Amino acid sequence: MAEPVQTPQAAFKPRIFSGIQPSGGLTLGNYLGALKRFVEKQEEGIETIYCLVDMHAITVWQEPEKLRQQTREGAAAFIAAGIDPARSILFNQSQVTAHAELAWIFNCVARMGWMSRMTQWKDKTAGKNAEAASLGLFAYPALMAADILAYHATMVPVGEDQKQHLELTRDIAIKFNNDYGVTFFPIVEPVIEGAATRVMSLRDGTKKMSKSDPSDQSRINLTDDADAIASKIRKAKTDPEPLPETLDGLKDRPEARNLVNIYAALAEMTPQAVVAEFAGAQFGTFKPKLVELAVARLSPITTEMNRLMQDPAEIDRILGAGADRAEAIARPILDRVYDITGMIHSRRRTM
Ligand code: AMP
Ligand code: TRP
Repeated sequence: MAEPVQTPQAAFKPRIFSGIQPSGGLTLGNYLGALKRFVEKQEEGIETIYCLVDMHAITVWQEPEKLRQQTREGAAAFIAAGIDPARSILFNQSQVTAHAELAWIFNCVARMGWMSRMTQWKDKTAGKNAEAASLGLFAYPALMAADILAYHATMVPVGEDQKQHLELTRDIAIKFNNDYGVTFFPIVEPVIEGAATRVMSLRDGTKKMSKSDPSDQSRINLTDDADAIASKIRKAKTDPEPLPETLDGLKDRPEARNLVNIYAALAEMTPQAVVAEFAGAQFGTFKPKLVELAVARLSPITTEMNRLMQDPAEIDRILGAGADRAEAIARPILDRVYDITGMIHSRRRTM
C-alpha cells in the first residue's frame, strides 16, 4: 500500500457540501437559511454538492412511504428554488454508501464527551428519557462530518443552529489527521451569512421556525398557498409598537425583529434598510407588504414543486444520476481512508 499523501490545507480545492433532512416538509427557515443560499453558491460557480440526508432522518422513526415522499418533495424544492441538477450534484444520502462507511470510522474517532455536549442532542432529549433515544441520534454529528468530509468539502452553508455540528466536524478532521499523522481531511469553514440564518417561529420569537413544531401556524411551509401564507403572517405574533428607525430599537422585540429579518432576506435588503424604509409604520401596514413579498417570492417555487411532483420517476432518476456523480468523488477518498487506517481493501471496486 502506498504511504498516505501529505496534503497541505491550501491544496484542497473549494467545494461546497450541504444537506437537509427529509423528515418533514420544508419551511421558510429552510428556504432562507439554506436553499436560497445554496442557489447563490451554485451561481458563484463553486462546485456544489447538495444532499437529502435520509439516513439522518431515521435517527427518529419515519414512516417509510412518507420518508420516500418527503425525500422526493425535498428534491423538488431544491430544483424549484433554482438548483440545477446538471451544475450541482443533487442526491439522497443513502444511495452513496461512503457516507455510512466513513461515519463508522468517525464513530471511532469522535469521543462520547464531544457528542454529549451537542446542544441539539441535549435539546432533543431534554425532559425525555435519553436512554430511549436511538444510538443514531447520539452519533448523528459523526454521520454529518462524514457527509462533508467524504467529499473533502471545504465550505458548508448552513443556518445558525448547525454551527456547533460544524465545529465538531473540524474536531473530527483534526483528530483523524493527528491520530494517523496525515493532513488528509480539510478543516471546513462554516458559511453562516445573511439576514435569515435563524428564522424564528411566527408564534414565539424565541423559538426557531421548525418543521417539527406541533403548531402549523408557527411556520410557513414551502407547500403553503398564498391564502395560507397571508393568514399566517397576518396572525403572526407582534407587539403594539410601530417599527423603529434603527435596528437598536428591535433589541428586545424578538417577533418584530424576526419579521424584519424575513422581509430583508426575501427582498435581498439589509435589515437596516428595511427599518429605514418602514420607520414609524405599524404592523398593520408592514404585514400586508410582507405578505405581498412572501407570496411573490414563494408561490413560483410552490407551483414548480407541485409540477415536478407529478413525475416522481423523473425525480428518482435525477437523484440516481446525482448519486453516481457523488460516488465518483467519494469512493477514491474512502479508498484512501481505508489505506490510512490499515484496512486491506484488495477487492476494491474500480470506478
Ligand atoms: P434541517 O431542516 O434541520 O435539516 O435543516 C436544514 C438546513 O436548514 C440547515 O442548514 C439548517 O441550519 C437550516 N434551517 C433550518 N431551520 C432554520 C431556521 N428556522 N432558520 C434558518 N435556517 C434554518
Ligand atoms: N444536520 C443538518 C440539519 O439538521 C443536516 C445535515 C446533515 C447537514 N448532514 C449535513 C448540513 C452536512 C450540512 C452538511 O440541519
